[in-house]
This record gives sequence, structure tokens and C-alpha cells, in this order.
Amino acid sequence: MTAFRLFLHILAASVWVGGQIVMAGILPTTRRLEPESRVAVATAFGRVAWIGLAVAVLTGLWNVMAIPMDELPHPWVELHLLAVLVTAAGAFLHTIARGRPALLAVGGATAALGAIAAMYLGVLATTNVA
Ligand code: HEM
Repeated sequence: MTAFRLFLHILAASVWVGGQIVMAGILPTTRRLEPESRVAVATAFGRVAWIGLAVAVLTGLWNVMAIPMDELPHPWVELHLLAVLVTAAGAFLHTIARGRPALLAVGGATAALGAIAAMYLGVLATTNVA
């Protein structure tokens, strides 16, 4: 069951984190699209990515419940959650930027860096469970 729980958590996390890396990688191509097509691609990506984050949050709560209180890997679990909040806040700002370049860039960068940090801190949490 532990393997299945972690598998689901990593699968969902990889949609959120990997999706952002792929979107950043194909930015030179999407920049060449008409504005309506660009918005359509971004909206479709957002739908899939937010579902990935929602499943990561649900399976993350399952992770927390599966670890006995006195075995929770401090401070990694708290830092992991902080990075999740940072990536979610960045993505939210990016979503409401509505064409404002500074907010798009700051939100996007915060979302991506927070996502990568969340991934690494998650691994640190798992490898430090008592
Ligand atoms: C962007 C969202 C998230 C990402 C990218 C992410 C990523 C990860 C990764 C890669 C691991 C390591 C798994 C392993 O090495 O086997 C992990 C572990 C963990 N995550 Fe997350 N996670 C996210 C959200 C959450 C949330 C919202 C919570 C809590 C509500 C959470 C709680 C945990 C816990 C407690 C562990 C340790 C599980 C264990 O060792 O049994 N995660 N996470």
C-alpha cells in the first residue's frame, strides 16, 4: 500500500511539475501562435495541471495520515508544504495575469521554481521518515 500511495502522489506531482517544464520548453513555439490559439493551449494545459495539483494535495494528505505523528520528518514536511503553497500561489498569479507581462513572468517563474523545490523537498521528506 505504501508503494501505491507514493506512486499516486508522484504521478500527480509529475503532472504538475513536468507539465510546467514542458510548457516552458515549448514557449518559443507557442509564442508564434495567434493570441486565441495561445490562450486555448494555456487554458487546456491549466485544466490538466490543476487536476494534477489537486490529486497531489489529496494523496499528500493521505501521506501525512499514513505516517505516525512522532515519525513525521521535520522540518522537511513543513518545507515541502511551504513549497507547495509557493508554487500554487505563483500559478494562481500567472492565471489571473491576463496579459500583464510582469505578472505573467513572475507568476510563471514562481510556479515553476516552487514546483521543482516541492519535488525535491518531497524526496527529502520521504528519505527522512523516521
Ligand atoms: C506540487 C505538489 C507536490 C509535489 C510536487 C510533491 C512531491 C512529492 C515527492 C516527489 C515526494 C517523494 C516521494 C518519494 O520519494 O517516494 C513527496 C512526498 C511526500 N509528500 Fe508531496 N508533493 C506535493 C504535494 C504534497 C502535499 C499538498 C502534501 C500534504 C498535504 C504532501 C505531503 C507529502 C508527504 C507527507 C510526503 C512523504 C511521504 C512518505 O514518505 O510516506 N505533498 N511529495
